[in-house]
Amino acid sequence: MFIPAVSGVKNRWNRPERNKSVSTKIALGLQWGDEGKGKIIDFLSEDVDLVVRAAGGANAGHTIKAGGIKYVLHLIPSGIVHPDVRCLLGSGMVIDPDSLLDEVLSLEKSGISDVRTRTGISGGAHLILSWHTEVEKNRENSSRPVGTTLRGIGPCYESRASRYGIPVSYLKYPDLLGEALNDLYHSMDIRSEINPELMKKTLLENHSWIIPMICDVSLEVHNAQKNNMRILMEGAQGVLLDGVHGTYPYVTSSQTVTGGIYSGVGVGPQDDDCVIGIVKAYTTRVGNGPFPTELKDSMGEFIARAGNEFGATTGRPRRCGWLDMVALRYAVRITGVKKLALTKVDVLDGLDDVFICNSYKNDKGDTITDFPPSGVELDKMTPVYESFSGWESSGINNISENLYSYIRTIEDLSGVEVSIISFGPDRLETVLREDFSGFLR
Ligand code: GDP
Ligand code: IMO
Ligand code: MG
Repeated sequence: MFIPAVSGVKNRWNRPERNKSVSTKIALGLQWGDEGKGKIIDFLSEDVDLVVRAAGGANAGHTIKAGGIKYVLHLIPSGIVHPDVRCLLGSGMVIDPDSLLDEVLSLEKSGISDVRTRTGISGGAHLILSWHTEVEKNRENSSRPVGTTLRGIGPCYESRASRYGIPVSYLKYPDLLGEALNDLYHSMDIRSEINPELMKKTLLENHSWIIPMICDVSLEVHNAQKNNMRILMEGAQGVLLDGVHGTYPYVTSSQTVTGGIYSGVGVGPQDDDCVIGIVKAYTTRVGNGPFPTELKDSMGEFIARAGNEFGATTGRPRRCGWLDMVALRYAVRITGVKKLALTKVDVLDGLDDVFICNSYKNDKGDTITDFPPSGVELDKMTPVYESFSGWESSGINNISENLYSYIRTIEDLSGVEVSIISFGPDRLETVLREDFSGFLR
C-alpha cells in the first residue's frame, strides 16, 4: 500500500518518538545520472537534520520543485530548500567558486536568505579554477571525446591526485595559496592569460566570502551521528558513471558508489545505515559511451519529449531507452542498496506496451545476465526485452494494476523493494510505501 506525501507537515508519517538507533541514509543514482536524485533527496530531507554531498562538482544538476518554485542545484545539497536542514559539502567534492557564488546568489534570490549560514564547506574539498576548464576544453577536442560537462571536473581531480591541487582551506593562507598556485600552474599544460599572481588576487578578492563557511565535515557528521541526528548523504552522478566501476572510459572522475560517498564525506559505515537507490522508470544517458537499451527511434523521441530529457547542467538532450535490469542488478550489487525510489513513472503513461531488458545477447549469441563492467564489452551487447501492458495515466492516487505489475517485476528482477514512487517533478507528486514510513524516523 502506498501513501501520498503531504508536504510541509513535520511528523507527517506519525512517526513514533525517535529512538536511539537513528540510522544514516545514503541516497544515490543507480543509472547514468539524472535519475531524479534532487527530487527524492528533497522529499527525504523533510525528516532529516543534515544533508551532505560527498563528491563531484557542478557537473551535477539536481532539480527540485516545491511550493511552486523550481530550484536547480549543482553544488549545494538538495536539503537546502527545507529551512531547518544544515547542508555540508564534503572533502570529496571539487568546487568551482564562481559556480558556487552564482548558486548561492540564485538561492538567496529565491528567498533562501540563510543559505550561507546553513551551509558548511570542507576545507579538504578542492577548488576548480579556470585553468582546469581550459585544459578540459582542449582535451575534449580530441578524437575520442568523453562528452564531459566541461566543468573542469577531471583535470581538478588529476591535480588532487598529483598533489598539485588547491584545497579550499588554502583560501585562509594567502602565502601558501600563492605558492600552491604557482606549482599548479607549472604542473599543467596551461596557455591561459591568467598567471598565478592574477589567479591568487582574483580568488582572494572574489571568494574570501567562502572562508567563514569552511568546516570539518567529517567531524561534524561524526558528531551528528553520535548525537542521534538524522543524516542523509547525497550521491551525485550515477553508479554507471563511477570512475572505477562504471563504463570506463565514459565515466566521471569521482567514485559515485556507496564506498565513494563514505570516503567523500569522511565517515565509515554504521550498523543501521540504509542505502536508497534512485532509478528512473526508463534509462537516460548524457554524453558518449555504451548504452544497450538506447532507442534511436520515435519511441526514444517520445520518452525524451514526455520526460523533458534535457541536461540540467548543460542543456544537452539526453539519450533515452528502456529500463535495463541487467545494469540495475549490477548497480544494486555494488552499492548494497536496500530500498528503491522509482521516478518518472508518469512519463510512460499512455503507452500500449512498456519494455524491460532482463538479459543481453553478446556477439556470439550467448545470453548474458550479468552486466559486463567493461565499456568495450557492453558495446557488443544486444538487449533482450520482456513486454508489459501499459497504463493510461498514473498519479499519487492512481496506481493501476498494470503499473503495479511493472513495479513488482522491477522488485522481483532486482531483489529490492520499491519504497518510493515519483509521479511528477513536484515534491507532492510522491508516494511512500506504508510500511516504509517508520524508516524516516
Ligand atoms: P538528478 O540529477 O538525479 O537530480 O536529476 P535531474 O534534476 O538532472 O533530472 C531529473 C528531471 O526530472 C528534473 O527535471 C526533475 O524535475 C524531473 N523529475 C523528477 N522526478 C520526476 C517524476 O517523477 N516525473 C517527472 N515527469 N519528472 C520528474
Ligand atoms: P547528476 O548528478 C548525467 C556525465 C557527462 C559525461 C561524463 C563525464 O545531475 O546526475 P564529467 O563532466 O563528470 O567529467 O563528465 O559524466 N555526467 C553526468 N551525466 N548527470 C550527471 O550528474 C552527470 N555528471 C557527469 O555527461 O558523460
Ligand atoms: Mg542531473
